[in-house]
Amino acid sequence: MTMSSSNSKIIAIDGPAASGKGTLARALADALDFAYMDTGALYRAVGFEVLFAGGNPESESDALHGCNILSQKLNSDDTILSNPDLRNDKIGNAASKVAAIQSVRDALLDIQRNFAKNPAIGKAGAILDGRDIGTVVCPRASLKLYITANMEIRAKRRMKELQSKGFGVTYKAVLEDMRVRDARDKGRKAAPLMPSGDAIVIDTSDLSQGQMLEKALEYAKKAFS
Ligand code: CDP
Repeated sequence: MTMSSSNSKIIAIDGPAASGKGTLARALADALDFAYMDTGALYRAVGFEVLFAGGNPESESDALHGCNILSQKLNSDDTILSNPDLRNDKIGNAASKVAAIQSVRDALLDIQRNFAKNPAIGKAGAILDGRDIGTVVCPRASLKLYITANMEIRAKRRMKELQSKGFGVTYKAVLEDMRVRDARDKGRKAAPLMPSGDAIVIDTSDLSQGQMLEKALEYAKKAFS
């Protein structure tokens, strides 16, 4: 089995939607000079391909077809994962539907583990964020953080994020979308969202981005000392 070795510098960050994990992961990667992978972007990109082809994100064959297209595209251009169109809530929903299919998760596993094992040249380690990094993708990561916050605060954060990107959304719709997506991510059979037993849980409801980073850096210092 391909698996990260316990002494490689890997930080696994998991948590529900808009908990602050992506912001934290980026800031930590900058501070530590680690490579960063937003694994949600992989699932979003598969969801995007399925919708673009007029398929159904809950159909295994449509979703696997989306994975194939994504793999081909990633061979020539990994900037597709930063496509701003991936961020809208329609794609987020499609992502959580394809993500509930075990064969889709299997198809995306090697991409994530390869990144963790071989971060970009010159980088000191790798940070991956998602839903199952500490539990499935990198179970031997040196540091596992589970980032959470109460649902109302998360919905407000997501609403601001979407509005700043020009997507017209209401608080009510974002909150409802988040409820449905959290329930699907936590309730699915395939790699459900949950903290790994050895993860440090950080509730960011009352933390600023600076405070969140400070806490995480303290844990990283301990983990890598
Ligand atoms: O940005 P946000 O936290 O809302 O979502 P995301 O991290 O971009 O992930 C989109 C969807 O992909 C999630 O709702 C999950 O269903 C799925 N996902 C997953 O199953 N496993 C991961 N490692 C990352 C994302």
